[in-house]
Amino acid sequence: MKPDYAPFSKGLAFGDFCIIVLLGWILVSNMSLKHSGGILESLECAFDEAMPRIVSMNKLAQQPYKKRDPSLPKGRQVDDGSLAEVAALLGDLSLRRDMLIEALHLLQDGVGHLKAGHLTALADIFRLAQAEVYEVASFYHHFDIVKEDQAPPPPLTIRICDGLSCEMAGANALIEGMKAAADPAQIRIQAVPCIGQCDSAPAANLGKRSVKRATVPDLLSAAAQDTGPEMPEYEDFEAYKAKGGYSVLAKVIAGEIKPDDAVKTMSDAGLRGLGGAGFPAGMKWGFVRGYEGPRLMTVNGDEGEPGTFKDRWWLETQPHRMIEGALIAAHVVGCDEIYVYMRDEYPHILQLLLIEFAKVNASGFADHAPLKLRRGAGAYICGEESAMIESIEGKRGMPRHRPPFIAEVGLFGRPTLNHNIETVSWIPDILEHGAKWFAGQGWSEKNNGLRSFSVSGRVKEPGVKLAPAGIPLNKLIEEYCGGMAEGHSFKAFLPGGASGGIFPAHMADLPMDFGTFEAHGGFLGSHAVVILSDKDSVRDAALNTMRFFKHESCGQCTPCRAGTDKMVMMLQDPATDHQLYEDLMQVMGDSSICGLGQAASNCVKHLMKYFPEEMA
Ligand SMILES: Cc1cc2nc3c(=O)[nH]c(=O)nc-3n(C[C@H](O)[C@H](O)[C@H](O)COP(=O)(O)O)c2cc1C
Ligand code: SF4
Ligand code: FES
Repeated sequence: MKPDYAPFSKGLAFGDFCIIVLLGWILVSNMSLKHSGGILESLECAFDEAMPRIVSMNKLAQQPYKKRDPSLPKGRQVDDGSLAEVAALLGDLSLRRDMLIEALHLLQDGVGHLKAGHLTALADIFRLAQAEVYEVASFYHHFDIVKEDQAPPPPLTIRICDGLSCEMAGANALIEGMKAAADPAQIRIQAVPCIGQCDSAPAANLGKRSVKRATVPDLLSAAAQDTGPEMPEYEDFEAYKAKGGYSVLAKVIAGEIKPDDAVKTMSDAGLRGLGGAGFPAGMKWGFVRGYEGPRLMTVNGDEGEPGTFKDRWWLETQPHRMIEGALIAAHVVGCDEIYVYMRDEYPHILQLLLIEFAKVNASGFADHAPLKLRRGAGAYICGEESAMIESIEGKRGMPRHRPPFIAEVGLFGRPTLNHNIETVSWIPDILEHGAKWFAGQGWSEKNNGLRSFSVSGRVKEPGVKLAPAGIPLNKLIEEYCGGMAEGHSFKAFLPGGASGGIFPAHMADLPMDFGTFEAHGGFLGSHAVVILSDKDSVRDAALNTMRFFKHESCGQCTPCRAGTDKMVMMLQDPATDHQLYEDLMQVMGDSSICGLGQAASNCVKHLMKYFPEEMA
C-alpha cells in the first residue's frame, strides 16, 4: 500500500541523485590522473558503503507519518476542570516564576499528590513550558507526580529515617516492621535520609508530625491520631521583646551602632559561618557591601547534613534571635529583603515562622528588609547556597558554577548575603556584649565563642550541646553527653556529618574547631558529631554515607552522579581492588562541581586509612 503523504521521499530521491552525481564527478575527474589506481579503489569502497545507506533511507521514506486529528491543537491539552481545580488550590498565590515551588506545595498538600493534568494546568496558569514545571516537580523528593494511568499514593506517608544514627538505632528493622504491619492501601512507608531528629533515633515523620524513638506500635497508634504539626513551646515575639529583644536592632536602625563598627565587631569576635564552610562572617559582610546594590539576604535553614539538628533546636526554642540577627545583618550590609529557606522536614518550624514573621513584618522592625519564608521540598543539595538560591527562584536545586560567587551575583542576579541559622542567631548577643565577650568563650585563645554541637550515636545523652569552640571530643562526651552509652566503648567518630570524614577514637583529643580536621582530610562542617562504638562497623557507616550521597546527588556532573553510584557498588563487594577506590576518589574530589561530590568519599578514604582491617 502506498503512503498517504510522503513528501520526504522527494527529498531523499534528490539526496540520492546528488550523491551519485558527486561520486561520478570524482570518478571522471580522477580518470585523468596518472596514478588513479588507489583513488579508484577507494572510490569503489565509498560507493559500496554509500549504497546500503541510500537503500535504507528509501525504505524510511516510505514510512507513513503518524496521523493526528487536525481538529485539535498540538501537544498536551489543558482541561477546564483541572484549570478550575488548580486555580482554587492556588488561591491568591502570586503567579511569579519564583513561586512555582510554593504552588506545587499547595497542589501536593491539597490533593495528596501532583496529578499530571494539574501540572499541565499549572504550566498554563504560570505561562511556563510544561517541561519546566515537570522538571521542577520531578526534582524534589516531596512531590509525588501521578500520571493519568497511575494510582495515587495512599492518604498517609510515614517517612522513616535510615540515616547513620537511625540505622545504628535499628531503623532498618523498624522499616521492615512497618511495611509488614501497616495497611498499604492507607499508609505508605518510605525510607528517607536524615530528618534532623538524630538525637531521638530511630525517628520518623508521620504526615507533618515527628515521632521520636519510634517503634512499630508508636507509629501505628500515631497514624490513627492528628498528623498535623506539633508546635513547640518557643519564645514568641511578645516574650522576646519583653526581655529586651530587638533593642540591638533598634540601635542599629537609629545609627547608634554604625555599620562599619558592626562589621568590625563581627570580625574581632571571630564569628565563623556555622553552615559548614566556616567563612568569617565580618569578611563576608564586607564583600557583599562592596558590591553595588540593590542587595538581598538569604538565611539557610535547609539543615540536611546527616547528624545535624542544631538549627532546629535554635528555632524551636528562640526563633527571634535568628530573626533579629538577620534584620541587623541586612541593615548593616544594605539588603532590601530577607528570604529564609526552611527544609520541609520541619513543618512545625515552618508554621511558627509564618506566625512570627507576620508579627515582625507588622511591627515596623523589618521595614528595611521584609522577611519572606520559602519552603524546601526534600532535597539535601538545596543546602548548598547556590542551589538554595536556584530553589528560591522556583527552579531545580542545582548548584551554580562559580565564579561569579553569590556575594556578587546571587538571588535574582543581585549581590546576596547568605548565612546559616545559627550564625545569624549569635549576632544580637555579639553586638550587645562585645567581641571580647564572644571570643573569650572558646576552649583556648585560638578558639572563638560557643558552638552548638549536634551529638548523636552511642552516647548516654545525645542532643544539642552548647560548648566552647575547640573543646576536645573526649571532654564533650564526658562532660556534656554523660559519657558513652551503657555497654558501648568508643571506637570512631564523624566530626562533621556524612561529609566530614570518620576518625578513630584515639584522635578525639584534637580541638573541635575549624582547621583541625582539614589537616587529616576531613572537617568539622556544621558540627554534627556521630559517635560509633565497638558494636558498630565503620565499613557499614561509610556505606550508609555513600548511599546518602548517591540518593542526594543532583546529577548535574558525571563524577558525582556516576561516582557515588559506583562507590556504593564497590563497598558492597569485598573483593573490590583498592586502587579502584583511590582512582575514583581522586576523580570525584578533583572534578565534581560542588562540595557534595568533592567531599562524598571522605568516609571511604578514612575507612581505608584508619580502619584497614575492615577493608580486608
Ligand atoms: C552539599 C552542601 C550542603 C550544604 N548544606 C547546608 C545546610 O543545610 N545549611 C547551611 O547553612 N549551609 C549548608 N551548606 C553550606 C552553604 O553552602 C553556605 O556555605 C552556608 O549557608 C553559608 O552560611 P554561613 O557562612 O553562615 O555558614 C552546604 C554546602 C554544601 C556543599
Ligand atoms: S557534585 Fe554532585 S551535587 Fe554537586 S553539582 Fe555535581 S552532581 Fe550535583
Ligand atoms: S534523623 Fe535519622 S540520622 Fe538524623
